[in-house]
Amino acid sequence: MDDLIRETARRLATARRVVALTGAGISVESGIPPFRGPGGLWEKYDPMEFAHIDALMKNPEKVWKIFMGDMKRVLLAAKPNDAHLGLARLEFLGILKTVITQNVDGLHQMAGSTDVIEFHGNFAWLQCMDCGARAETVSVDLNIVPPRCACSGIYRPECVFFGEMIPREALVRSQELASTCDVMLVAGTSAIVQPAAFMPVIARQAGAVVIEINPEPTPLTGHTSHFLVQGKAGQVIKAVTAEVERLLEEKRP
Ligand code: OAD
Repeated sequence: MDDLIRETARRLATARRVVALTGAGISVESGIPPFRGPGGLWEKYDPMEFAHIDALMKNPEKVWKIFMGDMKRVLLAAKPNDAHLGLARLEFLGILKTVITQNVDGLHQMAGSTDVIEFHGNFAWLQCMDCGARAETVSVDLNIVPPRCACSGIYRPECVFFGEMIPREALVRSQELASTCDVMLVAGTSAIVQPAAFMPVIARQAGAVVIEINPEPTPLTGHTSHFLVQGKAGQVIKAVTAEVERLLEEKRP
């Protein structure tokens, strides 16, 4: 077994308070494309034209038709993979406290994680841009674009668009967890978008061990993170979880 997988498992099994920060890469093995890198959404779409709040306000039809038309198909069909399931298992074992995710796909909750901070909101709920009424995405006919509320206002997803604030509760809790955890697992994020990418920096400055899981190095690698376990999140987290279970079993009287 890879030494870094063994080392990650050892750190987790002996930690008091573990927090995970996840990004789009953790859902790649569920068929959801990431934003950056090969096959990424931002290769196809200009985020300022399709994912900025000004674009949504100015031309919601266009944003819904192109960007969200593509997104909704993959998002609504996706199922959790070994990475989501492994993190849920680590919570069940009493190792992992909270997942802070930048993803809007709800796959951590579907996998069984019960304490998930949705840093960039979620796609599970829509809100009318006129009257503010909320509706569950699955209850709305998304073949009609843009989807409309009973008041005829246009729905938007409860995702955070570029140019919008992070939900206050999500930001405050994440900062608090980052500054009090003793291990932070950072999986499947390019660590480019702020303020999410600052959470590992807070953790490191507060004395936590920061472990990255990613097929590629990121701006955190070699500075903020103590080490990078290079590989796909599903494979790495599955192997780490199995090793944690082995270590816990070994400790049992
Ligand atoms: P990115 O698309 O920027 O980064 C995805 C990361 O996942 C990259 O570092 C990849 O190397 C890595 N990756 C790819 N496949 C992987 C796999 N199988 N296992 C593990 N890692 C893998 O996604 P985020 O960092 O989440 O914001 O992007 C942050 C934010 O930028 C998103 O939340 C979104 C986007 O614009 C908003 O919509 C506000």
